[in-house]
Amino acid sequence: MQTIRQPSALCDAIAALRGEGARIALVPTMGALHEGHIALVEAAKRAADKVVVSIFVNPTQFGPNEDLDQYPRREQADSRLLTEAGTDILWMPAVEAMYPDGFATSIHVAGITATHDGASRPTHFDGVATVVAKLFNQVRPDVALFGEKDYQQLCVIRRMTQDLDFDIAIQGVPTQRADDGLALSSRNIYLTEEERAKAVTLPRALGVAARDIARGGEVAAALEQARETLTKAGFDVDYVDIVEEDTFGPHNPEKPSRIIAAAKMGAARLIDNVVVEVR
Ligand code: PAJ
Repeated sequence: MQTIRQPSALCDAIAALRGEGARIALVPTMGALHEGHIALVEAAKRAADKVVVSIFVNPTQFGPNEDLDQYPRREQADSRLLTEAGTDILWMPAVEAMYPDGFATSIHVAGITATHDGASRPTHFDGVATVVAKLFNQVRPDVALFGEKDYQQLCVIRRMTQDLDFDIAIQGVPTQRADDGLALSSRNIYLTEEERAKAVTLPRALGVAARDIARGGEVAAALEQARETLTKAGFDVDYVDIVEEDTFGPHNPEKPSRIIAAAKMGAARLIDNVVVEVR
């Protein structure tokens, strides 16, 4: 695996791959890698000839009171995991290389970013869209892979890719979970042992609601039940809602949908989502 930190070196490496006629996959990450990220790398290997993984803790997607400074940074362990997974290029730009003095552009994807995580974290998706657009232009991949765990993010990236004519296939990868069902996340390390044990209530409560709704149960009641279960387990619930899967718009009983949730357990803000099987 080649580790590259300078934009000019990345440009040369990408040009070399393109020269060979290789199909390139990009997996953008913020590091502190776990099996969820590795599942993206494995899917990327199946989707292309060469895999580029970026690790960049992107300051512009963190709000003023969020965890930018505490966000875990584990360069050596990440590098080892990516080598084992068969990554070809690790792209690790410095903040100054991504946002040099005078940087003034931001990408705002309207609509999708107005609700849920976008409402709770007002500048978050602008930061995500801007950095992902930069990564797309730097790497010029044929395909880019994103986890379904961050479902609203996946929808924002799809919208941006279409709207800005990026000639890149966006592939979603199913959420990877711990044995008890908790979605893997770099932020799970903020949980104490006791909180970690209670956190499993999040996927369980969403699963119960999804099954209720799939069986014809009342949607509002199922969502309220999930909120109550989470609150009782010690979560501070931000939202539990149901959206149309393709558009992230309001729920339409005729269309595939997902239950999405965000809730705080101690210092960790956890998000998750589950599919509601259509009858
Ligand atoms: P990060 O949180 O590091 O996640 C990188 C990618 O891994 C995202 O596409 C995310 O959805 C995916 N991922 C995380 N946990 C997962 C899990 N348990 N199962 C499947 N996929 C999982 O998301 C970001 O970084 C950033 O916002 C980024 C897109 C890199 C832009 O800075």
